[in-house]
Amino acid sequence: MQKDYAIKIGNLQLSKPFILSPMAGVSDLPFRLLNRSFGAELAFTEMIDVRSISYKSKKTEQMLASEAQDTPLGIQLVGNEPEFILKALEVLSTRTFDLLDFNAACPVRKVTSRGKGAGLLKEPKKLNSLLKIIVKHLSRPVTVKIRTGWDRNSINSKTVALAAQDAGVAAVFIHGRTKAQGYTGSVDYATIAQVKKTLNIPVIASGDIFSKVLAEKMFNETGCDGVAIARGALGNPWIFKEMLAYHNHKKFHKPSIDNIALVMGEHLKACAQFYSPDKGLIRFRKFFNWYTKGLPNARLMREKMCRAKTMQEALALIEDFRANTKSMPK
Ligand SMILES: Cc1cc2nc3c(=O)[nH]c(=O)nc-3n(C[C@H](O)[C@H](O)[C@H](O)COP(=O)(O)O)c2cc1C
Repeated sequence: MQKDYAIKIGNLQLSKPFILSPMAGVSDLPFRLLNRSFGAELAFTEMIDVRSISYKSKKTEQMLASEAQDTPLGIQLVGNEPEFILKALEVLSTRTFDLLDFNAACPVRKVTSRGKGAGLLKEPKKLNSLLKIIVKHLSRPVTVKIRTGWDRNSINSKTVALAAQDAGVAAVFIHGRTKAQGYTGSVDYATIAQVKKTLNIPVIASGDIFSKVLAEKMFNETGCDGVAIARGALGNPWIFKEMLAYHNHKKFHKPSIDNIALVMGEHLKACAQFYSPDKGLIRFRKFFNWYTKGLPNARLMREKMCRAKTMQEALALIEDFRANTKSMPK
């Protein structure tokens, strides 16, 4: 990476172009803080429905929970009803956050069938009017998350991105796949490049940023201003160190087993503290699966972790992992 990769999103100055992409069921406060400690800068809450913010449910409070070190923070909203969007903005007006991202990318049927998430890709005019409402009522930068289109016969992200820019958004996040692709199939670098060429606001790309090589490919092939990392950070907060090493032309060393065990233990304790020991343990199980992906005894360890009933048992299992796993496969 040769050029200066600092990005400005509205009044929000980021020193690095590596962003932690929002993930439903994953991007809670412990996960964000962990990834920040490894170098992630901007991070997002998971997607929150504007209706549930209006109802102020306990689950929503947990999704919105933040603290002083959890910055810069983006809150991601999904919805399509102006009255609930306005109500959500009113509820959020007392909270501390740096940016609001509006989701027009979620491919889940329950969401799109109600015209929300990626459903809005079919209605650029409606998306434009919803974004105008948000921009008008919020004094912080507003961004939008889109996909390349609904399916391969309707690649319309240039139109959608222009509609968003016209509404006054400060940046566009684009996942280089169609709604129909979900999370599989190849990333459409060419379409992201067209979106980047068309807009005069920053474009942040996501899709398969699993390594520095793939990050470099994304930058080189699309000219994007930044990359947002999602699955590459699951069980792998080191990806942000890898990106920074790449950024600074330094060598990246993969974590040792001791290091992975240490981070898992910290992550588990943070989940227990944030939710409760019981709920935190349940929440942590999927992360354990991701941390141990590709390791020799992973299946057996996961079964044991699934059966672990207490924090002590889970921590003992992590110690067992540390003591008995020789090294990461190459
Ligand atoms: C488990 C999971 C949950 C996700 N939830 C959200 C979400 O709430 N909001 C969003 O904009 N994107 C969400 N995404 C999409 C990611 O932010 C990202 O755009 C996409 O996964 C492509 O990046 P990747 O290839 O690095 O995973 C989710 C992805 C995954 C895997």
